[in-house]
Amino acid sequence: MSDIEILDQQTTAQNSLRSAMDFHSSGDLEHAQQEYTRVLATDYRAADVLPLLAGIVAERGDIDLALYYWDKLLDIQPGHLVGLLKKGGLLHGLSKFDEAAHCFRVAKGVAPTNTVVRNNLAAALSAAGRKDEALVEFSELLLLQPGNIDARHQFRRLAAAIVPFWHAAMMNDTERNDAFEKAILRAVELRGAQAQVLDIGTGSGLLSMMAARAGAEHIVTCEIVPAIARAAEKIIAANGYGAAVTVVSGSSTDVSVGQDLPRRADILVSEILSSDLLAEDVLSTFEDARSRLLHEDAIVIPRRATAIGCLAASDTLSKFAHVGEVSGFDVSSFNSLAPQRLPLHGTMTEWTRLSDDFELVSLDLAAAAHPPGLRKVSIPVQADGVAVGVVQWLSVELIDDIVFSNHPDDRREGHWLQMLHTFPEPVPVRAGEELQLVVGHDRTSIVVAPAR
Ligand SMILES: C[S@@+](CC[C@H](N)C(=O)[O-])C[C@H]1O[C@@H](n2cnc3c(N)ncnc32)[C@H](O)[C@@H]1O
Repeated sequence: MSDIEILDQQTTAQNSLRSAMDFHSSGDLEHAQQEYTRVLATDYRAADVLPLLAGIVAERGDIDLALYYWDKLLDIQPGHLVGLLKKGGLLHGLSKFDEAAHCFRVAKGVAPTNTVVRNNLAAALSAAGRKDEALVEFSELLLLQPGNIDARHQFRRLAAAIVPFWHAAMMNDTERNDAFEKAILRAVELRGAQAQVLDIGTGSGLLSMMAARAGAEHIVTCEIVPAIARAAEKIIAANGYGAAVTVVSGSSTDVSVGQDLPRRADILVSEILSSDLLAEDVLSTFEDARSRLLHEDAIVIPRRATAIGCLAASDTLSKFAHVGEVSGFDVSSFNSLAPQRLPLHGTMTEWTRLSDDFELVSLDLAAAAHPPGLRKVSIPVQADGVAVGVVQWLSVELIDDIVFSNHPDDRREGHWLQMLHTFPEPVPVRAGEELQLVVGHDRTSIVVAPAR
């Protein structure tokens, strides 16, 4: 192209740009778009025209074309903050949350203290279901903007979704804590300060700090929830045990000797027992630890856990477990979908026993394998009534004679609750007869069922 032709083209582009801007400011977006497109075709001031064009086509509803123009701009200027923000916003609007998060992360690299960028990144991560990353972003945003109420709310909402609600109640259960501390003290006395301790399921770091307070110098603890692992690391350091305790963020099944754990552990301490014993996958976790992470003669705390129960009658609990006639309708077949087990707390602790205590499951937690199993039991009925199911509690042998139990005669609240294992439907019983049940476990849950 000759110089004259170039000058002509530039003049045409300038004229188009001027008229595009006039159309734009008068609100005539259709003609503004046409004129800006003409300017763009000449490549004249593309970096200035592209944002205007992208904005107009987005406003006119053509999001794909807007994304095309933002991409063209970002090809020219990869760190264009407005481009990154707008493109991320459009992608978020299209529910392409991962791509939006990627855009905002690039923007964060350009403007790390820009709170709009940080907020958008956190929101996109949250919408993408990447809760832990979102949690980190919201917490960093709060450092920049401590008064940002929405960010604080989102942080707390995500934390609540990631961290089970029972953590505080568990830590406040002093009987549980004291029993574990006694057992840990005993184990450290037996194996000495140089013993390698492994604590599976760090939580706040409580059991690891107890081990350190007992004199253990080498403690490795792992926590599957990254946010909890980060919190524990801070707590342990703040309490002065950072040198003795190493926190590994990850599942025990990903811990390996030589990498996270210097050598096989002499003591395992772990509190991953749910109120119904098995729901936190204690069997697989302990079996895996025993085979890969522990010395053959390692002390395992807790050593044995037993689920015990009795037949129970309760008008209150039957309302949580079963339905019959409601507002004149027979809805009893809904019982096939009734809850299999219910934690008992608050008003749900009102029930009466219809039998003596009997054992449901007793597990040696130091054993190599725990195959599932069922057995028939014959339960002598002690009182007339309608059995809603079996109320179950735990007896946990931590070490030797140190046993923790939440037997309902002594404890009806606390971290470990009694559980009601409901029968599929209420079972009327009479004193003196025997009720045939099938009990056992399938490795992740206790089985309690009336024998057919
Ligand atoms: C019941 S809490 C106990 C916390 C703490 N040890 C205490 O006693 O206060 C169990 C913790 O273990 C974690 N956890 C469960 N299974 C795990 C596993 N296999 N590896 C790592 N952490 C696990 C859970 O996320 C939870 O934070």
